Amino acid sequence: HAVVIKFTNFLCKSYNKSWVTVDQCRLKAIGRDKVTLNFEGNLLHPTNSIQVDFQILKRASGYKPWIIHTKIDVCRYFRKNYNALATIIHSITKDFTNLNHSCPYVGRMIVKDMLLTAEQLKIPFPTGQYMAMLRWSYYNRLQLDTNVSFLFVEDFK
Ligand SMILES: *[C@@H]1O[C@H](CO)[C@@H](O)[C@H](O)[C@H]1NC(C)=O
Ligand SMILES: *[C@@H]1O[C@H](CO)[C@@H](O)[C@H](O)[C@H]1NC(C)=O
Ligand SMILES: *[C@@H]1O[C@H](CO)[C@@H](O)[C@H](O)[C@H]1NC(C)=O
Repeated sequence: HAVVIKFTNFLCKSYNKSWVTVDQCRLKAIGRDKVTLNFEGNLLHPTNSIQVDFQILKRASGYKPWIIHTKIDVCRYFRKNYNALATIIHSITKDFTNLNHSCPYVGRMIVKDMLLTAEQLKIPFPTGQYMAMLRWSYYNRLQLDTNVSFLFVEDFK
């Protein structure tokens, strides 16, 4: 269990604004050690092909690749739950986002007031600063980065 687990930074970038725009990408402090994540983007063309390169980096004089690195075929995942890490991400985000259905995807993508809790993570993180890097591609072209940094402090009691 964690004493502290909270978002510390959130950076987004669209690589092609005629495919996807980022309208909101921010963290909001709502109390001591409580920070919510908010994202709003717009997919301007329907897509049946979404891939996410998901990687967790750990900070140690710069961010270094950590154990977790996977590629998720989002449309395939929503047809048939096939990837254990995608299942964890889905269970963490599902109450806060409209990214919860099968393909095609088009229009507004929203993550609203998302809080992180240790119970949801189900992965034992050693104390440290991490960055979850999600790079989204459509039709195998990189379209969007969403980099979420978070602090995890273990409970040694
Ligand atoms: C996300 O992180 C990766 C790896 O550090 C970096 O290459 C990329 O530029 C970052 N994207 C943004 C929007 O900060
Ligand atoms: C950007 O998106 C448009 C579709 O709106 C597409 O025609 C174009 O090829 C894309 N450019 C790149 C570099 O992917
Ligand atoms: C998906 O998210 C929307 C908007 O939050 C919600 O109305 C809907 O019930 C969700 N669907 C599923 C299958 O969870």
